[in-house]
Amino acid sequence: MVIALDGPAASGKGTLARLISDHYGFAHLDTGTLYRGVAWVVLNENGDPSDAEIAAGAAKAFEIEKIENADIRTKEVGAAASVVAANSGVRAALLEFQRRFAVTPPRGAPGAVLDGRDIGTVVCPDATVKFFVTASPQIRAHRRWLELVESRPDLKESDIYQDLLERDARDAAREDAPMQAAADAELLDTTHLSIDAAFAAARRVIDGVFRHCG
Ligand code: CDP
Repeated sequence: MVIALDGPAASGKGTLARLISDHYGFAHLDTGTLYRGVAWVVLNENGDPSDAEIAAGAAKAFEIEKIENADIRTKEVGAAASVVAANSGVRAALLEFQRRFAVTPPRGAPGAVLDGRDIGTVVCPDATVKFFVTASPQIRAHRRWLELVESRPDLKESDIYQDLLERDARDAAREDAPMQAAADAELLDTTHLSIDAAFAAARRVIDGVFRHCG
């Protein structure tokens, strides 16, 4: 069983992925962590994320354990992540790990939940259930601001809004694995939904598919 959740930044897919994986006892992979991790490594070595060779090299040598204590959730790492993510060498280097996680989830879990931008389209085109999670850019910027403001009180919501729009545009326009809804994805707009309501809506879809699968 593989559940794919794709969608733009701060749409709520990460929270949903965690709730779904806990509820069904599935393993969860936040694939954005991999791109953020590669970006963090490049920035940490004073490299340029838009340098194709440097970014692809960092992705090939990437080990998830190395970023365990790194602060990869910052706005700066997010922006650099979307730059390295447009690099085909980087995407190719990270693909195998994601597919292996989906096919053989850790600790013998009976299924996997992966969230990102290209899970339903490229990483797991045969996923059991696919969601494309969206929300208005204003709501997404507000949610991300709430997440970050405690550690960075200087951050302005308007800057985060601008940053998300830039990142969305870059993620949707790139040639390799652009962010897009798979043709068979269930669209879930969380703009006016509480976390509980979004989770309930996702569960209805998943339970329906599971019943159908027997
Ligand atoms: O958490 P947030 O939605 O802000 O972003 P993320 O999921 O951590 O992803 C950071 C960046 O990694 C995105 O802006 C994408 O450029 C890239 N990414 C990707 O290209 N493909 C994925 N499957 C996941 C992330």
